[in-house]
Amino acid sequence: MEAKTAKTKAGEWRKYERVLLPPIKDLHRIDVYEANGGYKALKDAIKGEKWTPTAVTDEVKASGLRGRGGASFGCGLKWSFMPKPDGGPRYLCCNGDESEPGTFKDRQLMEYNPHLVFEGIMIACYAMSISTCYLYVRGEYADWIDQMETELAKAYAKGYVGKNILGSDFSCELIIHKGAGAYICGEETSLMESLEGKRAYPRIKPPFPAQYGVFGRPTTINNVETLACVPLILERGASWYAGLGAAKHPGPVLYGISGHVNRPGVYEYPTGMLITDLIEEVARGVRGGKKVKAVVPGGSSTPPLRADMIDGVTMDVESLREAGSMMGTAGMLVMDEDTDMVSWLRRVTHFYHHESCGQCTPCREGTGWLEDIVSRIERGEGRVRDLDLLADLCSQMEGRTVCALADAAAWPVRYTIDRFRDEFVARCRPSHVAVPALPESELEEAET
Ligand SMILES: Cc1cc2nc3c(=O)[nH]c(=O)nc-3n(C[C@H](O)[C@H](O)[C@H](O)COP(=O)(O)O)c2cc1C
Ligand code: SF4
Repeated sequence: MEAKTAKTKAGEWRKYERVLLPPIKDLHRIDVYEANGGYKALKDAIKGEKWTPTAVTDEVKASGLRGRGGASFGCGLKWSFMPKPDGGPRYLCCNGDESEPGTFKDRQLMEYNPHLVFEGIMIACYAMSISTCYLYVRGEYADWIDQMETELAKAYAKGYVGKNILGSDFSCELIIHKGAGAYICGEETSLMESLEGKRAYPRIKPPFPAQYGVFGRPTTINNVETLACVPLILERGASWYAGLGAAKHPGPVLYGISGHVNRPGVYEYPTGMLITDLIEEVARGVRGGKKVKAVVPGGSSTPPLRADMIDGVTMDVESLREAGSMMGTAGMLVMDEDTDMVSWLRRVTHFYHHESCGQCTPCREGTGWLEDIVSRIERGEGRVRDLDLLADLCSQMEGRTVCALADAAAWPVRYTIDRFRDEFVARCRPSHVAVPALPESELEEAET
């Protein structure tokens, strides 16, 4: 079948030259980064006359860069929501919490190209007149946090970060903050609460972070990969960036491919790659020559696609929306024909139940019920009507809570059951089989 919306002409991606993770030895070291053109975009932005803060934001807008943290929101547009400076503090949060199952691409940037992230942060702060950035990193990434601290000290020493950057009037501090291992801390407002030293309960929006962010001050939050794209946009131009991959969702992207493939890993290619090319060619096919059963395109919260739904589908918001899923973080999970979808879903429901912060009832109770009911189906004790009960539960959760974790928990349940219903029905007890009566002793206990 000919690709419906293939954005990369057949095979063209093979000639793609990596820019986020170029194959340069020891690129994490500041001297190597500088020797390969690093910090030039920052110098140009701060010292040249071309790049006023507004011009930087406009260039990012024109590039079409969309956030890589999951929601694919326009980056330049988000920056333009920041109110005019009023003399008080303003913040940037760089989100490196990376805890969505199936997502492990920011880690690669922080390990192999941290100065690209620092440079992106400094340019973003310059564009929004921000003088403090927190880089919030998942605590389990301890080794890379240590390495980043070392490299950040060098960036301070060389005048790329700190007071009067490169001799200009622009000053900006960068603080690396280690998270303590909770998925919810990646949610933008919860991350801010956590930074303030409080329990990481997401905040009700509005007010949005641009109005009321860290310490109640205007704040922008962007993913690590999003900010790493910024120096490249300034250096090579918005039109270069906009011309890569899918027209409405352009640029390079780090695809994290995991599951039953021969060569799992993080691969940099433009957006708009065919899912089938990523599986068959990039990840070298399914292990043992088996067939694909399901693909989760962008982290565990994005709806799974059956094998018969992926032909011609490309990795970008538009094509994935048409196909019935989402780009998310481009953390693609591939499952082979032997995968037990009921067990897979049980595992996913366990994760969201465990990670719910418990603040809102539909999420706190709902995630528990999802796990319990899917677990009983897995044990062979469920009934077919449980499938409708699960769908109803999802409806009680979606869009009714403070943050999107409840949606993230409900979507895999709704769509896995919808798309693999026969498998779930086959695991349920036929409805005419009576539920075994409770033993007399338990009944008495229940009555008391
Ligand atoms: C429960 C939950 C967890 C999240 N975890 C992350 C994360 O680990 N990293 C991330 O960049 N965004 C995460 N997000 C999305 C952020 O709230 C936010 O949209 C993102 O950091 C914005 O950056 P971007 O516009 O550059 O994508 C999460 C959202 C939710 C609801
Ligand atoms: S939706 Fe869930 S995780 Fe988000 S605030 Fe409510 S209880 Fe917490």
